[in-house]
Amino acid sequence: MEQLHQRQPGITRRALARGRDAAGRSSYALLAELVTPGSRVLDLGCGDGVLLELVASRGGVGVGIDCSAAELALARQAGATVVRAEAAALPLRAGSFDLVLSHLAFSVMDDAEAVVAQIDRVLAAPGCFAAVVGGGPALPASTGRQPDRQSGGEPDRQDQPTEDGFEVFLSLLGEALTGRARCRLGDRRAGRPEGWRELWHARGYQVTWERHEIDLSGTLDEVWLTLASAYDMTLLSPEQTQGLARRFAEECGRRFAERIPVTMVVWRAMAERG
Ligand SMILES: C[S@@+](CC[C@H](N)C(=O)[O-])C[C@H]1O[C@@H](n2cnc3c(N)ncnc32)[C@H](O)[C@@H]1O
Repeated sequence: MEQLHQRQPGITRRALARGRDAAGRSSYALLAELVTPGSRVLDLGCGDGVLLELVASRGGVGVGIDCSAAELALARQAGATVVRAEAAALPLRAGSFDLVLSHLAFSVMDDAEAVVAQIDRVLAAPGCFAAVVGGGPALPASTGRQPDRQSGGEPDRQDQPTEDGFEVFLSLLGEALTGRARCRLGDRRAGRPEGWRELWHARGYQVTWERHEIDLSGTLDEVWLTLASAYDMTLLSPEQTQGLARRFAEECGRRFAERIPVTMVVWRAMAERG
């Protein structure tokens, strides 16, 4: 992960900032809309500072932390206040933030207990932590496709046309990675509601999870930029990456018109004290 952000800082913004939910919000805006004017906001795993820009536009006073020097250099260039730090060891005063946010970062962090303890420490009462978690395809729910009842599992992908470019991509990436270990990032509890309850209830926080579908449809180039930002892509050689890009383009050409449908599910997960 570190290498990817070092080599391609700003990759998450390029991949996701254009996406919108049914109400016209980006996945970043799902967090930014919680900011009230004058509130002190910490962005945990801020990357190139895209969320901090939205925080400032809503009158919040934002600070970002991230462990990637290359990401932070971009954030500083854009005028953000950022600190290079590990989320599990924040060099920040206790009770110095009203809100802690994290966009697709909390769930890739190791040692969730230590990170949660730090968030709890830097939050002033009452205190709220909100994160965007997720990144899976929306099928079959959003297309109304039913699971295959006979096998009780997923629909048979060979018999039914796949209707989302995300599914096409994942199936091709799965083939390219056959027999190889995937990137295992973060503490498993940080990516699921029962894990959040385990982590936060003990500290007196209430947990809520809200599902959002983000439309990331676009041209082949746009959609590839989004999907190829997956951390598992770092496991492929440049030749394998080119091969996958070629096969993805062929499959999309067969299945879709110029605009390739891609829908990503994200969760707005919140832990609120009080
Ligand atoms: C998927 S990127 C998201 C970046 C940004 N939040 C965004 O959505 O555009 C995850 C970010 O978390 C940072 N990160 C991962 N683990 C971290 C840790 N333990 N402490 C601080 N930053 C971390 C990475 O360097 C990276 O910038």
